Amino acid sequence: MKDSKKYSIEEIDILKGLKNKNQKTINSKFFYNKRGSILFDKITKQTEYYPTKTEIDILIKQKLNISKLLPEAATIIEFGSGSNKKITNFVKALKNPKRYFPVDISREYLLSNSEEFAKAFPNIKVEPICIDFVNIKPNEKKRIESMLKVSEDVIGFFPGSTIGNFEPNNAQNLLKNFSKLLDKKNHLVIGVDLLKKKEILENAYNDKCGYTAEFNANVLKRLNKEFSANFNFSEFRHYAFFNKSKSRIEMHLISNINQSVDILNETIYFKKGESIHTENSYKYSQDVFEDLISKSGFVKKSLFTDSNNFFAVYLLEVV
Ligand code: AVJ
Repeated sequence: MKDSKKYSIEEIDILKGLKNKNQKTINSKFFYNKRGSILFDKITKQTEYYPTKTEIDILIKQKLNISKLLPEAATIIEFGSGSNKKITNFVKALKNPKRYFPVDISREYLLSNSEEFAKAFPNIKVEPICIDFVNIKPNEKKRIESMLKVSEDVIGFFPGSTIGNFEPNNAQNLLKNFSKLLDKKNHLVIGVDLLKKKEILENAYNDKCGYTAEFNANVLKRLNKEFSANFNFSEFRHYAFFNKSKSRIEMHLISNINQSVDILNETIYFKKGESIHTENSYKYSQDVFEDLISKSGFVKKSLFTDSNNFFAVYLLEVV
């Protein structure tokens, strides 16, 4: 990089990923601009994409059991709030929740969803926090800490198997940060996608209607708009497969031809068949996930799954 001072943190992140000699990458958080959030919401409605539906079913079916285990009049902080579907079903399982702090990186989407939520639940005070919860800046951390101080009973909510997007080491660090942000005896309710047959996993990331492909390609459109790039997205194709040895779905965008792309005063060269790795979605066995939890400052209080054992909702307590 010539003069890294003129680049923002996000620009440096993008350039570093695209200039990686071994494997070009784009961090999956860049999927979530407004269009990306809407496309993800479309994905969750596809028959092949089982995680969201299954998680919501678990929240609905286990409502009473969840309610028994969690405190009354709690404050909820949701990491990566996205659409309102999950939180709506979660608050219905709680006794008289007082406050809801949705945290998300996608501002417009966050604000419109917060408004909608506030209308549906007039007794819950909503305060949206627009930040990247993976890289919380010191001033943001202070603000969140003071927001959480008003309540003794805080429940962290981290649904959707977002945890699966992180390499196991980073997942552990993230969970550790959550446990530090919360107080002892506070709770974290976290959704995790479980290991299952390869075909089911691969179909979920290759829906017939092509929304996942569009979601994947949308990141290039975003780079064109926001990072002065000139990707010809018709010359990249969606590819998603289950990497068994790493226990993760990988999403890539594969270059159909030899080509070069300009971005932020740099030129990136692609060979025909070369890919940009855009996402990992780790799939956990219960054993491996519970080991991760115990190393991150939490203890398992309860676990809820569906009849197929496709998805798990864990109820954890900070130790
Ligand atoms: C939002 C991380 C849960 O990994 O399944 C869906 C994102 N990517 N289809 C996932 C996603 C492609 C999703 N999470």
